[in-house]
Amino acid sequence: MFFFSKLSKLEIINVGVKVGDKRVVQDVSLTVSQGEIHAIMGPNGSGKSSLAKAIMGHPSYKIVQGNVLLDGESILQLSPTERARKGLFLGFQYPVEVSGVTVLNFLRASYSAMKQGGKEDVKVQVPLVPFKKMLSEKLQLLGWNEGYSSRYLNEGFSGGEKKKSELLQLAVLQPKIAILDEIDSGLDIDAVRLVAETLNKLSGPNLGLLMITHYKRILQFVRPHRIHVMVDGRVVLSGGPELADELEEKGYSWIEEAEEQE
Ligand SMILES: Nc1ncnc2c1ncn2[C@@H]1O[C@H](COP(=O)(O)OP(=O)(O)OP(=O)(O)O)[C@@H](O)[C@H]1O
Ligand SMILES: [Mg+2]
Repeated sequence: MFFFSKLSKLEIINVGVKVGDKRVVQDVSLTVSQGEIHAIMGPNGSGKSSLAKAIMGHPSYKIVQGNVLLDGESILQLSPTERARKGLFLGFQYPVEVSGVTVLNFLRASYSAMKQGGKEDVKVQVPLVPFKKMLSEKLQLLGWNEGYSSRYLNEGFSGGEKKKSELLQLAVLQPKIAILDEIDSGLDIDAVRLVAETLNKLSGPNLGLLMITHYKRILQFVRPHRIHVMVDGRVVLSGGPELADELEEKGYSWIEEAEEQE
C-alpha cells in the first residue's frame, strides 16, 4: 500500500508590511513548499528582514495587505508561538544574547512549547534525559562540543557561533518551513562552507527553506530552486540559481533601471 503525505506549503500572497506608519513591503507573492529551497536577495533596506519578521508574527511588523497561508490556512491571527507550532521557523539576522538562560534550557523550553499542541499556558517540559541525548546528536551535526549547551544563549558567542546557534535551533525544532535571514553574513569562508554543509544535512523532502542572503557564495553550496530579488519592498525579479551570478556581476542597478523604463 502507498501512503502519500501532503507537503507543507507556505504561501505569501500579495503581502504588504508596515512598520509604524512606514510601508516597507508591498505586493510580495511567493510560495515555498517542503523540499524546496528559495532565496531572497536585494539591496540593504529593501524590506527582506521586515517581510521575514512579519511572516513570523513580530508585533512591530504589521501585515496590512494580502495573506500568509500555511497548508492552506491563514496564520495572520496566530501568535508567533502558534506559528512555530504549525512548523514555521525564523533564524534571525541579528541573534539576541540572553544572559542567564543556557542553550540547553532555552532549547528545551522552545522544544517543549512546540510539543504542547496549542496549549499556550501549559509549561510542562519534555523529559531531560532524552532531550539531552537528542541535543547531543544535533551538536555533533554542527561540529560543536557539549560545552556549548551549558553556555548562556549567544552571550559572548562570536558572529559565526551566533549563526551556528540559529542552526542548532533549526536542527532541534525541525520545522517544516524555515526562513533564514542572512545565515551567512559575517562568516569567514570556512564558516560559510560549514553552515552550508549543515544546511544540506538538514534540508531534504521535509524542509522548505527561504534563505535571505547578499552573497552567491552560500548559494553555490546550497543550491536554490528559485531566487527572488527584492527592491524597494517589492519582488521585482524571480529566476533560477543563475540569477545569483548575474547579480554578483552587475549589482542591482540594472534591475532598477529596467524597472524605470517600463
Ligand atoms: N523597527 C523599525 N523601525 C523603523 N523602521 C524600520 C524598522 N524595521 C525596518 N525598518 C525600515 O524598513 C526598511 C526595510 O528594512 P529591512 O531591515 O527589512 O531591510 P533589509 O532588506 O533586511 O536590509 P539589509 O539587507 O540591510 O538587512 C528600512 O528602511 C528600515 O529602516
Ligand atoms: Mg535584513
